[in-house]
Amino acid sequence: MESNIQGTTINKQLFGDDFVWGVSTAAVQIEGAHDQHGKGESVWDVFVKKKGKILKNHHHYTATDFYNRYQADIDLVKQLNIPNFRFSIAWARILPNGTGEVNQAGIDHYNRVIDYCLLQGVEPWLTLYHWDLPHALELQGGWTNRAVVDWFADYVKICANAFGDRVKHWMVMNEPSVFTGAGYFLGIHAPGRRGLKNFVPAIHHAVLSIAEGGRVLRRALPDAEIGTTYSCSHIESYSAKPRDISAANRVDALLNRMFIEPALGLGYPTELGFLKGLEKYIQPGDMENAKFDFDFIGLQNYTRELVKHSFFTPYIFASLVKAEKRNVPLTAMGWEVYPQSIYHILKKYNAYPQIKKIYLTESGAAFADEVVDDKVHDPKRVAYLEQYLQQVLRAKNEGNKVSGYFVWTLTDNFEWAEGYHPRFGLIYVDFETQQRIIKSSGLWYANLLK
Ligand code: NOJ
Repeated sequence: MESNIQGTTINKQLFGDDFVWGVSTAAVQIEGAHDQHGKGESVWDVFVKKKGKILKNHHHYTATDFYNRYQADIDLVKQLNIPNFRFSIAWARILPNGTGEVNQAGIDHYNRVIDYCLLQGVEPWLTLYHWDLPHALELQGGWTNRAVVDWFADYVKICANAFGDRVKHWMVMNEPSVFTGAGYFLGIHAPGRRGLKNFVPAIHHAVLSIAEGGRVLRRALPDAEIGTTYSCSHIESYSAKPRDISAANRVDALLNRMFIEPALGLGYPTELGFLKGLEKYIQPGDMENAKFDFDFIGLQNYTRELVKHSFFTPYIFASLVKAEKRNVPLTAMGWEVYPQSIYHILKKYNAYPQIKKIYLTESGAAFADEVVDDKVHDPKRVAYLEQYLQQVLRAKNEGNKVSGYFVWTLTDNFEWAEGYHPRFGLIYVDFETQQRIIKSSGLWYANLLK
């Protein structure tokens, strides 16, 4: 195992003048106001009502109330010297039924958020889909219904026309492997469906929608910078045994390649036997349509995974060796702190000649933060971010392309099935009072960016 790079304290000059620094968020996790001003129900609005799905039965109906407090929170972005703010649009605010009639109040809201960012000198970066499908569309099969490609394209077009005069950076979709895998295969995220019969069509329709969304944006906004984001983890085999190595290769295909390779024109990875089931969903011309020449790829990395062969996991015959069993430093998500992961990931995706530009659109960690004397001291998060950034710099200095880094996330928020327990923010939130306290990591980031 490699040792952590110690030494050079990170400073922003080392990354160059054009390096893009930012912070990322997502609608469900912060907005609240789940039924305000004509918003329709999303799959998450419905999913959180089911007992036992979310830790402690938490829900996001208020979250950090960003919908109503966006000005104060964007003021904090500015106060922390963060020049770029990534947030997502809730599809069901724009189209309460997913298709059809537009909710003007939803458009007006995002116009105000965008305008306020610009007024404060903060550049808005928009994600069009961060997992909150309108429930009305789920009732028609959601991502398993091929019609979703057209529903999504119509929604993208409405957003491009409404916001494209001011928004220059777009991300079509966030982490497709997570919302299809957790939402349509494992059933632990909304809409809570399980099994290959749901997962396989959802994969293909998401793949088609990502490329179609890219084309819609490019046609409407030829000068915009258009990307999409993928989750990725550095994968290592637990041992040198051939069957562990081959298990690691399959997990790599599943977690790191299955979504991006069709977009790059490389088709689906052949290592994944279960993808044979895709054949019945692939229509003539689909693999051509799955391609799109994105201006950038957003990579989101948190940890690495160690993989072992196993007879008990039927689809990929592999299992992840849990970090908590390995005596390694952990975050509150139980994920290993492993800064070299981001270095390996950058090298891995740099090896695809089709990728023009890479931004790290999420990176961060949850720790058990506490308020002491009205302050939140989070040295572990500062160390995490510094060490990950050192590895980004290492990759960059070795000639790998990487054009920006967005911390996940601005404020503590609703962490999906984990509820409010894992705190990822640079800013602490008291969810009872909605009071914000800038953590030492927030001050550290502000100092880095000043
Ligand atoms: C990636 C997701 O995009 C985001 O929604 C989530 O909160 C973070 N990872 C942390 O799990």
